[in-house]
Amino acid sequence: KTVSVVSCRFRGGQGKTGVEDGPVHLLEAGLIDQVKELGYEVRFDGHQEFKDIEEDFPSEQDPDIGRMRRPRLVSKVCEKVSQVVEERARAGEIVLTLGGDHSLGMATIGGTIEAHPDLCVLWIDAHADINTPETTDLGWLHGMPVSFLLGLSQMPEYAWTKGRLHPSRIAYIGLRDIEAGEKATLKKHGIKAFSMHHVDKFGITKVVEMALDAVNPGRDRPIHLSFDIDALDPSIAPSTGTPVRGGLTFREGRYICEAVAETGRLVAMDMVEVNPSLTDPADPISAQRTVATACALIRSALGENLL
Ligand code: ARG
Ligand code: MN
Ligand code: MN
Ligand code: MN
Repeated sequence: KTVSVVSCRFRGGQGKTGVEDGPVHLLEAGLIDQVKELGYEVRFDGHQEFKDIEEDFPSEQDPDIGRMRRPRLVSKVCEKVSQVVEERARAGEIVLTLGGDHSLGMATIGGTIEAHPDLCVLWIDAHADINTPETTDLGWLHGMPVSFLLGLSQMPEYAWTKGRLHPSRIAYIGLRDIEAGEKATLKKHGIKAFSMHHVDKFGITKVVEMALDAVNPGRDRPIHLSFDIDALDPSIAPSTGTPVRGGLTFREGRYICEAVAETGRLVAMDMVEVNPSLTDPADPISAQRTVATACALIRSALGENLL
């Protein structure tokens, strides 16, 4: 089985420098060898190239649309990534996308679902990332990808997003920083969302079981695991742009990945929002810790701890 690594050094969906270095640090930490060690073939043809798009859409060519910031740049980059992901998913490869910011989620899931129409999604995050251009506060696209995947946001600049994902086919785990508009959207569409409150109340085992029961009752559907590193507690994953205290423990994070591996149905995974430049001066190894955590989660999803 081949794992196809799609490295996306992209930060245009949010405001902080450094998240484009996430993939570089994951690879420097030995991720590819770690995946090979698990018995996979690994395909990695270098970082995805966005230079031409970034030159075509410098800030002055990419004025805000309503509140949306860098809307054309994000759309063009995501359209390109989505084609790459689709092609590799169609080839039967497990597509591992390294971000970069979570706006890439519209690209990766958009691509995977073309190859696997009966796809279901687990979105592991402190945030719901389901703002629309109308509900967004700050205007950054990394807070909006799910609304495009579900077809709730539509605009000419994003015509390539097909809105193929049905709201019943996505479940969240780890939420703890949701905006009022997002909460209304989750309610309106009946989207299964497990917050940290649910993790505390039921335990991670039960929460993962409920999430999979909702989106994948027969455990026969292909699964896309979109993992925002900020789902974890900042004590384990401090180097990220929008940390929120009270997150998943290391074991809870790994448990989610292991449970997905156990189904044998993982077809794609995203590891996003690792920003090695955001370090706590009082904690000199914060970036290393975050990168090591991200690598461990990826290995878990690929079956490291299955016997
Ligand atoms: N809800 C906030 C927003 O829409 C934060 C989103 C954070 N997203 C992320 N992928 N880290 O801007
Ligand atoms: Mn660096
Ligand atoms: Mn997040
Ligand atoms: Mn996110």
